[in-house]
Amino acid sequence: MKEQIINLLADNLPSLTAQEISELIEIPPTPDMGDYAFPCFRLAKTLRKAPPMIAAEIKGAIESAGIPEYIQEVRVAGAYLNFFIKKEVFAEALLSQVRDEKLGSSEEGVGHTICIDYSSPNVAKNFHVGHLRTTIIGNSLYKIYSKLGYHVERINHLGDWGTQFGKLIVAYKKWGSEEDVKSKGIEELMRLYVLFHQEADKDPALEDEARFWFAEMERGNEEALSIWQWFVEISLEEFKRTYKLLGMEFDHYTGESFYRDKTDDVVRRVTEAGLLSESEGAKIVDLSEYDMAPCLILKNDGSSIYATRDLAAIFYRKENYNFDKCLYVTGQEQRLHFRQVFKVVELMGNEWAKDGLVHIPYGLVSLGGEKLSSRDGNVIFAEDILLEAVSKIREIIEQKNPDLEDKDEVAKHVGVGAVIFNDLYNQRIKDVSFRWEHLLNFEGETGPYVQYTYARCSSILRKVSDYDPNADVDVSFLTDEASMGLLKELSRFTAVVKEAANRYEPSVVARFAIAVAQAFNHYYTVNRINVEDPAERNARVLLLDITRRVLRDALDLLGITCVEQM
Ligand code: ARG
Repeated sequence: MKEQIINLLADNLPSLTAQEISELIEIPPTPDMGDYAFPCFRLAKTLRKAPPMIAAEIKGAIESAGIPEYIQEVRVAGAYLNFFIKKEVFAEALLSQVRDEKLGSSEEGVGHTICIDYSSPNVAKNFHVGHLRTTIIGNSLYKIYSKLGYHVERINHLGDWGTQFGKLIVAYKKWGSEEDVKSKGIEELMRLYVLFHQEADKDPALEDEARFWFAEMERGNEEALSIWQWFVEISLEEFKRTYKLLGMEFDHYTGESFYRDKTDDVVRRVTEAGLLSESEGAKIVDLSEYDMAPCLILKNDGSSIYATRDLAAIFYRKENYNFDKCLYVTGQEQRLHFRQVFKVVELMGNEWAKDGLVHIPYGLVSLGGEKLSSRDGNVIFAEDILLEAVSKIREIIEQKNPDLEDKDEVAKHVGVGAVIFNDLYNQRIKDVSFRWEHLLNFEGETGPYVQYTYARCSSILRKVSDYDPNADVDVSFLTDEASMGLLKELSRFTAVVKEAANRYEPSVVARFAIAVAQAFNHYYTVNRINVEDPAERNARVLLLDITRRVLRDALDLLGITCVEQM
C-alpha cells in the first residue's frame, strides 16, 4: 500500500522523486490521522508557500486526476496530508503479506558472509555476566543475519593464550593438586591465579618464573603445553555447559592460541608495510596521527600480545572465509583496542577494513541492588544466574499450574528466555539492570510475557476444530480497529529484521515482539475468536495463527525457544 501512496504522490508532485517521498512518508500515531501521512514542511522552502497550502494543493491535484479506487479519503490536517485507505482493501493487502510464511526473512544477504566474533570467554576464568551479554547479543545477530540470507561464521575467540598461563603453571606446580583442579575446575584455577598474585607481591621472582613458563609454552615445551591444554579442556567443558543451557552453538572455537604460529607473519607484513617502529625495546605501530595510543605488536621480550593475535585472526578470517563484514561483540572498554587494530589493518593498504571490521560494544550489567547468589570468592558465574532463573520459574509453575507436563523443560526455556529477553530489550549500549522481580514477571515488557502470549495462541489453536489456514478469507471480519492494528504490527516484521541487522541491534526485534504481543492481547480482548459463524471464526483464528508464527520466529531471532503450554 505504501508503494501505491508513494506513486500517487510522485504523480502529483513533480518536485520530489519517489525516493524522496518514500523517506518523508510517515505512519501516523493514531488511526484517526489516517494510514499514511505526508508532511509538507520540507516543500515549504522550495515552493515558498505555507505547508497547509501545499497539502491542499496536492490534495486538489490528486482529486482532479481522480481519486484511486483504494482510497477512502485524502484529508489536509495542518501541515500534513493524511491518506485513509479503504479498510477492506488495506486489510486484504496486509493479510496477504503476513500470511506468507517467509515474512521476516529476505534474500538480501545471499552470497555474502558475515563473521561474528563473540562470547570468547577467558580460559581458567569464570564465564561472567559480561560474557553472557556478548554471547546473547552475538547469537541474536547470527540469527538475524541468517534470516536475511547471509552466510554466518560463528567464531569463539577464546582467551586461551598469554602470560597469565605462565602464572597459572607456576601456581599449579607450587600450590595446586590434580584432584582439586579435577573436582573444582575453574574455581580452583581462579584460586590459584589469585594466590599467585598474592605471593608475587611478596616475592617478585615469581613473575620471572611465570614469564619463563609462558616463553616455554611459546617454544613448544611439552610439559608446559600439556598442563595448559588440560586447563583449556577443563574450562571449555564448563563453558559448553553454559552454551548448552542457552541452546547456543559455534562454528569455530578458534581462540587466541590458534594464532600463535601466525603472529610472525603479522610482524613481517606490518614491517613490509613500513609501519613498524621501535619504542623502548618494544615493536609498535605509531597511531598519533589518528589521536590514538600506539598499537603494541611485540613486547620488549619479543612475545606477541592480544592485539597481535587479533591482527593474525583478521587476516586468517579474510583469507579463509572472505567475509564482507567481521563483527566483534565485546564490552565497550575494548573500544580503543579495536580502533587501533582496525586502523593498523587499514594502514596496511586494506580498504575493506574501513567498513568490513565493526566493533559492536555493549553496556555493563548492573545488578540492580539485588543479591544474585554467587559461588565462593564472590564471583558471579553466568551459569548460576541462568540456573537460578530456571528454578524461580519452576517454582512459579509449581504454584500456578502444578499439572503441567514437562515442567522442567518449560521452566528451562522460560527461565533462560527471561534472562535473554531482559538482555536484549534495551539498546545494547545501555547498561542492563538485573531485577528478578522485573525480568521474571509474566506481565510487562518481558520474555515470559511474550512466551505466555505465544502459549495462549497455541492453546486456543488446539481447541478450535475445523480451522483451515488456507481457506479464502472474508476480510470484512478483520477491519475493526484491533484487527487492523494487529495486521499492521505484524506486517512490519521484515523491515524490523532489516533494521535490526543494519543497526546491529537485536532490541529492535525484542521491541517488535512486545508490540505484537500487546496488539494481539488487545485483539483478543475486544474480539471473540471462537464465534459461531464458521467464516468469521476462520478469519479470526487465522489472524491468531499468523500472530503465533510471528511471535515464535521473532523470539527465535533473539535465541529464545517457545513452549506450547506454560
Ligand atoms: N577474551 C576477551 C575478553 O574476555 C574477548 C575477546 C574478544 N574478541 C577478540 N577478537 N578480541 O574480554
